[in-house]
Formats: sequence, C-alpha cells, structure tokens
Amino acid sequence: MWRRAASLSSLIFSSSQPLRDQQGAYSLKAWKFFCADSSKGAGYFSKEKNLFITFVLGGPGSGKGTQCAKIVENFGYTHLSAGELLRREIASNSEDGAMLLDTIKEGKIVPSEVTVKLIQKEMESCGNCKFLIDGFPRNEENRIAFEQIIGAEPNNVLFFDCPEEEMIKRVLSRNEGRVDDNIDTIRKRLKVFAASHHPVIEHYSKKGKLYKIDAIGTEDEIFERVRPVFAACEGAQ
Ligand code: C5P
Ligand code: MG
Repeated sequence: MWRRAASLSSLIFSSSQPLRDQQGAYSLKAWKFFCADSSKGAGYFSKEKNLFITFVLGGPGSGKGTQCAKIVENFGYTHLSAGELLRREIASNSEDGAMLLDTIKEGKIVPSEVTVKLIQKEMESCGNCKFLIDGFPRNEENRIAFEQIIGAEPNNVLFFDCPEEEMIKRVLSRNEGRVDDNIDTIRKRLKVFAASHHPVIEHYSKKGKLYKIDAIGTEDEIFERVRPVFAACEGAQ
C-alpha cells in the first residue's frame, strides 16, 4: 500500500517539494495524502473499543523495553514494541522485509503506514485494551499516521530522558544480536532521534500528557519514578 501511495503522491507533489526528509521520513503533506487514501476510514477500530494507550519514548538504550516489562508485570498492560514488530516482520520474510532491514541498518525511520499497520494488527488481535506502545511515535509523521489510522490518541506519554553517552554504553553492552546495535548504526540512530523527537514531545507536553522520567539509576530506582504515573491511571480507567 505505501508503495502505491508513494507513486500516487509523486504525481501530486512536485520535485521542488521532497517527499522525504533527510531521515527518510515522508513530509507531513505527503503523509496526510496517504491517510486520506486509507480505504477503511480512520478510527474504525478504536471507536469499537475503550482503549487506554501509553506511548513510551526515549532514545536507543534509554530503558524503554526494560521499564515496559515492569509496567506489564505490575499493571497488566500489553507491551507492543514498534522496533520488535518490525524485526518480526523482517524475520517472517514479508515482501517489505528487505526494505525494512535496509532502513533499520541505516538507523532510519520506516514509512509510518507500515509500522502503524503492524501495531494495528496486534491491537486488533489482542483482548486487552491497555497498551504500552514502545518506540513509537518516532516523529511527527508516525504520530499523525497513528491518529489517522487508529483514530485514537494516547492517554499518556512517557519520555525516558537519558544522556547520549549512557545510551551508547547501554546499547553496546546489551548483546541482543541486533544488526543495529553497533557503534556506527547507534550514532546514526542517535542523530535521527535528536532530529525528530522534539516536535512529538512538544505536542504531548502542550496537551498535558507528557511524563518526563529521569532514566539514570538502577532499573528499580527508575521504576519507582514510573510507578506513580500508572498508579494514578488505575482509578481513572
Ligand atoms: O525501538 P527500537 O530501537 O527497537 O527500533 C529499532 C529500529 O526500528 C529503529 O532504529 C528504526 O530503524 C526502526 N523503527 C522505526 N519506527 C519506529 C520504531 C522503530 O522505523 N516507530
Ligand atoms: Mg526496545
């Protein structure tokens, strides 16, 4: 679908307006066009369900996955890691696999429709209504695509704030066999992160949904900073 949309949109947008930025993300205008082309209509799924969504943001190695595991254990959420869904898609030999692998090796951001559709499939097939969506949205294009396709906004957004040198140290020591956990790709991922996360954080901060968490400390110390956010939500659901 994204390939079809890309070719349709290239008819509409002139070469003076590039479809993608330097990080490989589509321009917002291009993306709005893609979403307008969506056949199922925005929000067809979320309107039927009482969703409670938390986005979990932070750079590579900021501790998103580790803290998500603790949130799942303590508060019964379903954890969806966007990066993990993409890696599974590559491992399943899907037709987008080669493009996804190249994008991940370069530390760039995958076209939003691909990622959102993978998230949507998981959300639809899961009986739970409480979701932690980890590593998403990476940029404004991701954010808008989610709103348009899923038809929902997050209730809360966690942002794990971690210095770059600490993130590099953690990624290089985690040894998970990932193709992108090497120093060259980490530097590229950090560059993409620095260039694209601010507008997303700003957006949710303005909406009063952002919780900035100091990501330095032991796993348990950090979780004690996270816990109150979810404890407060228990009563609100
Ligand atoms: O979050 P994680 O570090 O697992 O992501 C690994 C890679 O997956 C990213 O560097 C990026 O290439 C890709 N990704 C993406 N869009 C997302 C999440 C991950 O393109 N929303
Ligand atoms: Mg992760």
